[in-house]
Amino acid sequence: MKVVIASDHGGMTIRAEIKSLMEEMGIEYEDLGCECSQSVDYPDYAVPAAEKVASGEADRGILICGTGIGMSIAANKVKGIRCALVHDVYSARMTREHNDSNVLAMGERVIGPGLAREIAKTWLETAFEGGRHANRIGKIGEYENQS
Ligand code: RB5
Repeated sequence: MKVVIASDHGGMTIRAEIKSLMEEMGIEYEDLGCECSQSVDYPDYAVPAAEKVASGEADRGILICGTGIGMSIAANKVKGIRCALVHDVYSARMTREHNDSNVLAMGERVIGPGLAREIAKTWLETAFEGGRHANRIGKIGEYENQS
């Protein structure tokens, strides 16, 4: 599995934590920044990362900003992206099992690095259940392909 990771200035601590987790887990990743000492715009990081997942260049994406909200809104504008904003371990598991989310967003001003690590680990390790959930995701794709 290859993961693309990015954050704005509001998510740099958790981004470093998740990179260290992926190194421990032996997961290949690409870090798209930011290398920010000042304020940047989260869509400039969310969209390129989401495009890498949508094109198949990366299998999954992890995005962090202050709340996770801006990153998730921007990522979900990219066709084929199912970005889940997650701040608890239960949702991390469910969004993989039921939604086959391919991008995870978290907010560094909402949760700490320890919980973010547990969420990311669970999200990275959990497989999609398929079955009736695949049918539901297919309906999202059908709508997306009409526009
Ligand atoms: C930056 O101040 C902040 O707005 C951003 O990190 C994020 O929370 C947006 O949704």
